[in-house]
Amino acid sequence: MCGIVGYVGKRRAAPVLIDGLYELEYRGYDSVGIALSDGKRLKIIKKTGRVQEIEPAREERGNVGIGHTRWATHGGVTERNAHPHAFKNIVLVHNGIIENAAFLKEECLERGETFSSETDSEVIAHLIANVYRGDLLKAVAEGTKRLVGSYALAVMCIEEPDTVVCARMRSPLIAGKGKDGLVVASDVPAAAEEGATLFALSDGEFAKLKGEDLFFYDASLHEISKEPIEFDPVDDVPDLKGYRHYMRKEIDEIPKVLSLSQAKISRNSCFSDFYEVLCQTKYIQIVACGTAYHSGLCAKEAIERICRVPADVYVASEYRYGDPLIPDGTLVIAISQSGETADTLAAVRLAKERGAYIAAVTNVTYSSLTRLADTVLYTKAGREIAVAATKSFNAQLMTLYSIVSALAATLGKEAPSVGGLSAMAESAVITAESVRSWTPHFAGAKSAYFIGRGADRYAAMEGSLKLKEISYLPSEGYAAGELKHGTLALIEKGTPVVAVITRREIADKTMSAIHEVYARGATVFLVTCFPELCKTPEVTASAVIPECPPEYSPILSVIPLQMLAYYTSVARGNNPDKPRNLAKSVTVE
Ligand code: G6P
Repeated sequence: MCGIVGYVGKRRAAPVLIDGLYELEYRGYDSVGIALSDGKRLKIIKKTGRVQEIEPAREERGNVGIGHTRWATHGGVTERNAHPHAFKNIVLVHNGIIENAAFLKEECLERGETFSSETDSEVIAHLIANVYRGDLLKAVAEGTKRLVGSYALAVMCIEEPDTVVCARMRSPLIAGKGKDGLVVASDVPAAAEEGATLFALSDGEFAKLKGEDLFFYDASLHEISKEPIEFDPVDDVPDLKGYRHYMRKEIDEIPKVLSLSQAKISRNSCFSDFYEVLCQTKYIQIVACGTAYHSGLCAKEAIERICRVPADVYVASEYRYGDPLIPDGTLVIAISQSGETADTLAAVRLAKERGAYIAAVTNVTYSSLTRLADTVLYTKAGREIAVAATKSFNAQLMTLYSIVSALAATLGKEAPSVGGLSAMAESAVITAESVRSWTPHFAGAKSAYFIGRGADRYAAMEGSLKLKEISYLPSEGYAAGELKHGTLALIEKGTPVVAVITRREIADKTMSAIHEVYARGATVFLVTCFPELCKTPEVTASAVIPECPPEYSPILSVIPLQMLAYYTSVARGNNPDKPRNLAKSVTVE
C-alpha cells in the first residue's frame, strides 16, 4: 500500500515532504524515507518506524524530492526495504504491488545486476535505469510497460535534478500546483495547500513536475489537459481537540455525521436517475471489504426485510475471483470509505464488464471509486484519522438505509423513518461510555466472543473486528445459534462474551445462548434496547441503547462495541489510532 509524495519548487523540499508523509501515515507506517536533490547531489534518508523518525531531515538542503511511508508487502520491515529505492541514476518511491517482480528480478540478476532490498519496487528502478537515454519521462513510460500489477510512482534522476516524473496504474495519484511549487501525492490532503490546484491522474497516465511547470501525458506520451478536482483543505485539518486519540473523538462525532449523511434520495432529488434504476432493480449485490463489508451485511438485512428484494453481500476479494452471476435487474452497490480499496475497485470493474449498474457509497469525493461508479452516494463522515473505522461505518449505514427507503418507495412499501437516528445515537454515545468499566474483563482475557442474531449478529461481527484490530485480542463475532456447533468449545471460566439483542421476537433465543455460555463459565455482557433483560442474573454488565426500528439497530448497537474496543486497546497499552500491521486504506490486493 504505502503513501508517496513529491515536491519540485522554491521552498526546501524536506519539510514539505515530511508534512505530506504525516498526512499519508494512515496508508502504512512501517518505515519512512525521502530523497532530496539540491541540483548537485541526490541524498536518500530512510528509517524503520513512523514519519517522526526522519524529523531531523527537515533541515536538509534541496528543492526537489520524493518521499514514502511504507506498509510492507514484499520484504520485512527493515531500513534496506524502506523506500526510496535506487539503481544507477534512478531513485523512486512506489505504492502498489508488482506481480511479475520475481520474474523481472531474475532477468536483472542474470545480467549481473545486484539488488539491495527484498522489495518488488526496486526492480522498477532497474527497468527504468536500463532504458534511460537522457529523457526521464520516456524512460519511465518505457520501463513501466513491462510491469504487471499496480503502481503509483514518483521518480527522480541524477541527470535531471529539477524533475520528478510520476506514473499511475491502479494506485491513486494526485498532482498539482501550489503557491510556490509543484506537488504529487497519494491523496488530496497530502498534496493540498491553500490555493493549490490539484488534478487526479487516471490509470496509464503520467505527470512531469519540472521547474515551474506541470505536464500530464496519456499512455502514448501525448500531452493532455486535465480538469482540476474540487477539495476543501481548510475545513478538514486533523485536530484532536483535547481528546487523547482520534478514535475516541470520532466515536463522539457519530451523531453529527448521521445527520449530515441522511441522504435525500427521492423521486425529485438529484438522484432521480438512480431512482429510475431502483425501479428496475430485482436483485442487489453488495461488494466491500472490512468494516464496509459489515455495513453491507447490515444493509442486506434491511433490504430483504423491508423491501423483500433479494440481496447478497460479497467480500470484494472473493467476488472478483468468483465468476459472479449478474442477472438482468441487478444493482451492484460498492461500499468503501476511502473509495480506493484495491479489491473493491477490482470487483466493481468486473461487475461493470458484466453489465451491472454500479452505485458507490463512499466518503471521498475524488476517489477512484467515484470515477468508476454510475451513481455516487456520499457519506458525510468527514475525515477519519483512526485506522479502525467507527463513524464512517455509522455514516455508511445511514446512507444505505436511505437507499432502502428509496427502494421501498419504488415498490409502494413504506420503510421505517431514518429521522431520529442521529438523536438516538447521541444518547447511545453517552451510555456507551459506561462500557469502560467492562475493560478489566477484556484487557487480560485470552479471547472474546460477540454474539447476536440477524442484524445483531452483524453488529457483533463489527464489534469483534474492532476489538481484534486495535487490542490484538483473538475475537469472533458469531451467530448466537451457531455457537453450539463448535465455538462453544472455546468458552472457559471468565471468557468474556458480549451479546447484542435488539429484536424483540428473537430476544429469548439469544438469551438461551447467554445461558449456554454462562453455564460454561463465560462472563456475559449485554448490549440491548430492552432494559428488563439487563436484570438477568447471568449478565455481569449491560449497556442500554435507545430502541429504533430493528432493521436499523446496528447503527446504534455498534456504538458501545466501538467504545469497548477503544478502552480495551488503551487498557492494554496500545495506540488505538495506529494498530500494528494495519493501514486505513488498502490499495493493494
Ligand atoms: C482497511 C481498514 C478498514 C476498512 C477496510 C475497507 O482494512 O483498516 O477499517 O474497513 O480497509 O476500507 P474502505 O476504505 O474500502 O472502506
